[in-house]
Amino acid sequence: MLDIQTSLAQPIVIRREAYAAPDWLVPEVALDFALAAAATRVRARLSVTRNGAHDRPLRLDGAGQRPLSVSVDGVAVNDWRIEGEELVVPLTGAAHVIETEVEIAPERNTQLMGLYASGGNLCTQCEAEGFRRITFFPDRPDVLSVYSVRMTADKALYPVLLANGDPVESGELADGRHWATWHDPFPKPSYLFALVAGNLAVNRGSFTTMSGRVVELGIWVRESDLAKTDHALHALKLAMEWDERVYGREYDLDVFNIVAVDDFNFGAMENKGLNIFNSRYILADPDTATDYDYDAIAAVVAHEYFHNWSGNRITCRDWFQLSLKEGFTVYRDQGFSADQGSRAVKRIEDVRGLRAAQFPEDAGPLAHPVRPESYQEISNFYTATIYNKGAELIRMMASILGPETFRAATDLYFDRFDGTAATCEDYVACMEEAGDVDLTQFRLWYAQAGTPRVSATLDSVGSRATLTLEQHVPPTPGQSDKAPMVLPLRVKLFGAESGTALTEERLVLFDRARDTIIFEGLAERPVLSINRGFSAPVIVESDRSAADLAFLSAHDDDPFARYEAMQQLMLDTLVASAVHGRADHEGVIAAVANTLDDAGLDPAFVAEAVLLPSESFIGDQMAVVDPDAIFRAREALRRDLGRRLDAQWRRALAQGVAPYAYTPEAKGFRRLRSVALGYIAASGAADAAELAFAQFEAADNMTDRQGALTTLVSGTSDLRIAALDIFYNRYSDNALVLDKWFQVQALASRDDTGAVVAALTRHPDFTLANPNRARALVGAFSANQRAFHAADGSGYRLLADQLIALDRLNPQTAAKLLPPLGRRRRFDAARSGLMRAELERIVATPGLSKDVFEQASKSLE
Ligand code: ARG
Ligand code: ZN
Repeated sequence: MLDIQTSLAQPIVIRREAYAAPDWLVPEVALDFALAAAATRVRARLSVTRNGAHDRPLRLDGAGQRPLSVSVDGVAVNDWRIEGEELVVPLTGAAHVIETEVEIAPERNTQLMGLYASGGNLCTQCEAEGFRRITFFPDRPDVLSVYSVRMTADKALYPVLLANGDPVESGELADGRHWATWHDPFPKPSYLFALVAGNLAVNRGSFTTMSGRVVELGIWVRESDLAKTDHALHALKLAMEWDERVYGREYDLDVFNIVAVDDFNFGAMENKGLNIFNSRYILADPDTATDYDYDAIAAVVAHEYFHNWSGNRITCRDWFQLSLKEGFTVYRDQGFSADQGSRAVKRIEDVRGLRAAQFPEDAGPLAHPVRPESYQEISNFYTATIYNKGAELIRMMASILGPETFRAATDLYFDRFDGTAATCEDYVACMEEAGDVDLTQFRLWYAQAGTPRVSATLDSVGSRATLTLEQHVPPTPGQSDKAPMVLPLRVKLFGAESGTALTEERLVLFDRARDTIIFEGLAERPVLSINRGFSAPVIVESDRSAADLAFLSAHDDDPFARYEAMQQLMLDTLVASAVHGRADHEGVIAAVANTLDDAGLDPAFVAEAVLLPSESFIGDQMAVVDPDAIFRAREALRRDLGRRLDAQWRRALAQGVAPYAYTPEAKGFRRLRSVALGYIAASGAADAAELAFAQFEAADNMTDRQGALTTLVSGTSDLRIAALDIFYNRYSDNALVLDKWFQVQALASRDDTGAVVAALTRHPDFTLANPNRARALVGAFSANQRAFHAADGSGYRLLADQLIALDRLNPQTAAKLLPPLGRRRRFDAARSGLMRAELERIVATPGLSKDVFEQASKSLE
């Protein structure tokens, strides 16, 4: 018998260059489901056609199940065989009809891929390779089929039966069962298949498209959640209107349904006409959801809706092209969200997210290009690189083309590739053709991993200044030498004395290892503003002084650049303090004071600008991360900012207090108030805990309540215990809010956080079976730099224990928890050794999934 270690030692690697067109196409498929949680029968009828001249048999992907029957052209056959996970059927002609039948067990499906049970309902998740867990099929995105679906189920248990496309017919059966048929006229790959059977209530709406078609919208949830669906429904209508106006994209079916389920591996899924969502991205009311939740719901609803064009009408040829749909769709949802409130604040949030998730990924053992070359398990490639760096690539091309030309280029792309499975190359070629630009070198962005580093030096003599730029792309796994990339850098100079612009903003396409740019006719000493709006996803190292950064934080006319200057000033201060023990806080205090006193600024922007960089981002700037020194340096600066600006924080805390409203203005005030509360607590003010507890009790919304709780749990007052108990008792029947209760404790800055989290893993409400709960406790804990990196290795052990336990249930979600252990090389030898030992323990676990094996073994290389 082949033991697991041996089989894992030779993982199957899928390579991009090995792509070959499918041997058989499936223009049509009819599925018949006899649904029940314990055992569901699936009969599939595939019309298959031979693709090209070859004599190879039909190979259908499965997932370990055996067919109960196989027939070809209506006749039962027995010359089929199972090879690995494939069903191989010899066929002689050019076109045949293949029928198979299987039985699957949704209620035993803990992986949440394929057909599974959640909260008493049945639902599906097929991307990327879940359809093969439902029936035998060529489960690859370049096989597009027209689907007809029939479902039969117990009517009392599953009164609602939904699938892709439009409903056709339904009826009753004698034995308490009922049936429904659905038809989706748009050919689609199997990963977009979906069905839902359940006891669900619906919030209905309608949308009239630009050509006057009326689309019936439905948000399906359990009855008791119906009151929490208005925000999602509203966001859906806004997204439909936005995609017509901004991209000219109209919806194409008569119905658009969204179903919310509690157990879900990711955020949501864009199944044609039947999106299925993690309930956290649908359900909201002011009492249970924060502003962050509301914004995320609108963004994810829009994201999945936008996939109807960038994903469904045009899908991916193979999974190496995943960023074709995900990068572009993230770019589209970012644009949508930016249009709902402040563009600048949205950009700051997106860049913060990129730096928190993607930059570390790109600098570690799991770094991969936006278009990867190989994978073992494709689920591991739903990453910040594919999604968020991918979106930055689209943004750079949009900057290079300019708005009108970019729109012409996306029109060309949608027109030319509609109904096909396309590649990243197809997309870039459309940008190139419509934009009349040469993107040959730009394509390196798809091929080279790693975050480019740019050094920028401005030397001025008299009225002339020289900007010297150098770029370097660091080595990443499998890519030791990198070529220079095209970096679109928005640059502008400001006068150090007058504070006014000395030049127009220029878009510099910096595409060599080293380059110089000359500015003439400058009336005074220039200060450099570079990578404005974060025009390129790079790390800029400039030699700007603290004074110049403070100057930019007050005078730059690009709000993002102001934020960025302040962040740089804070980072320089914190790194100096963490590395060299030099704590000169005056420059930051003055700049923060100046920002707080600038009455012309949007409170949401102020809240972002005065927030210190995260502990992990500070660590990213250090040669060896020292979590304790970082924590001390950051707390010392927070305390000084809190004390010295006490009056300003208290003023901010009193500002904009009004009954709850979800408007950009009200959100901005709430955000600033919670930042202010945090600084007051950091100052050590005697009344800080009372202030926080008062806000906790008086709050008429979750944003203020959770903000106050967050402050309390990192403090020493006993009011923390009281608040946690009140919160728990109030929301003990609401899973999404209980997630916050777990998360807030896992993120707390306390000496005992590790012990608290260990105890919470044994709490009766803790379960690894629900991905949201697992992430709320274990995922949040591993993001807590000080607690996770406890010098005794207890944090690493806790994560590894939970990850190994979760892997038995749900490999995909387990693998997502692994990356923090992979950052080991960034830490001192002792921590690095402890992390390595946990990774080795994980890899040595019998029966490990290939999902976790891939991530852990790569992290050990
Ligand atoms: N396509 C989904 C989205 O909109 C994500 C699906 C990821 N699922 C998975 N099992 N890998 O982003
Ligand atoms: Zn997506």
